[in-house]
Amino acid sequence: MAAGSAVLAQRPLRAAETPAAKPATVGAEAGTLWAAAPVLLNPAPDGVSVVCALRQPATGWVEYGETAALGRRADARSNGFLAFEDKALAFRLEGLRPGTTYHYRVHAAAVAFNPSGRRAERGATETTATRSFRTLDPGAATARLTVWNDTHENKATVRALAARHRELPGDVLVWNGDVTNDIVSDELLLDEYLNPGGEAFAATVPYFLGRGNHDVRGRAARRLGQYVPGPGGRYFHTFRQGPVACLVLDTGEDKPDATPAYAGLNDFAALRREQRAWLARAIQDPVFATAPFRIACLHIPLVWENPVPENWLKVWGGFKGWVCEDGREQWQDLLEQAGVRLVISGHTHHPAWFPPRAGRSFGQLIGGGPLPAQATTIRIDADTRELRFAVENLERKVLFQDTLKA
Ligand SMILES: [Fe+2]
Ligand SMILES: [Fe+2]
Repeated sequence: MAAGSAVLAQRPLRAAETPAAKPATVGAEAGTLWAAAPVLLNPAPDGVSVVCALRQPATGWVEYGETAALGRRADARSNGFLAFEDKALAFRLEGLRPGTTYHYRVHAAAVAFNPSGRRAERGATETTATRSFRTLDPGAATARLTVWNDTHENKATVRALAARHRELPGDVLVWNGDVTNDIVSDELLLDEYLNPGGEAFAATVPYFLGRGNHDVRGRAARRLGQYVPGPGGRYFHTFRQGPVACLVLDTGEDKPDATPAYAGLNDFAALRREQRAWLARAIQDPVFATAPFRIACLHIPLVWENPVPENWLKVWGGFKGWVCEDGREQWQDLLEQAGVRLVISGHTHHPAWFPPRAGRSFGQLIGGGPLPAQATTIRIDADTRELRFAVENLERKVLFQDTLKA
């Protein structure tokens, strides 16, 4: 009983209990608890995840609803426990309606245990701004997708991409890999995937993470899924928004698993084989198969038909790793069988467009690199008759564009 009443007691925590806490405004979030604005992840027609990076251990919940009056509450329950996390709170909103606008805000309260670790005390509740988002809708008349890639921790680039995204928000953002330069620590993981450049980059338009080779490297890379999981815990899946069905695939590392620098810790060849088996089933799903346009996002391109830059050949002693040869072997026939029209990648840091040609029924589109002078936004804009895509640099110059007819 005493422990229960301690947990329920509400008072501001003393300064000594709030290490390194300082009032801050991060992504328009005021308070001592939030390390970032909320991040919306893995949208679906009936749900979305909300992840909030923290400055100190806290509990929390999400309040949401179809009007600004909110009225519904989502908790993170597990084996009788409510949320209590050191670094980030995560919630799944479920039972939502497709193509519907929801308003939401996150509440959190710091929780400190006494030195014995037995008694918990709860601080005052802090609340984020109220924002809104829209669920995916396979039946929508149009789809607008935004794709970023290879930002590699470049804050100026992320800020410019986020500013453009606010102007042209679209329905969903796919961050198509190489968010970091290797995930060397949990701090970096939280900073780069949940608070990149201090931007509220996914507080109103949800995002999917497509893993790149730098997102699977480093001491903390195995903990990415703890904070930014893929749907169902994997980074390969499909989603559908209106006329567009999109496969997201995980190309893994760019060099063979036996490369000495990986110390025998990787088996991405097995992951690509697993995706072949999954892909064979996923493309049969009527929600995917009946979409007027089928596309794929995968970090390392399957196709490159320009000369490979000399420095790559020098560093790596060959062409390997510039494209995902194993992915092409495992997946190309199934992608063609599925009628995939467009494969969107990054990785090369050199934007390119290789239209379909004899022997390859899909076009390969590749976004730019991490420096502001190299970075690109890829936008897809489709209705049931045509799909338009454009690769735009940060100066808003369109580098490649084309229209596909249904
Ligand atoms: Fe990269
Ligand atoms: Fe890459």
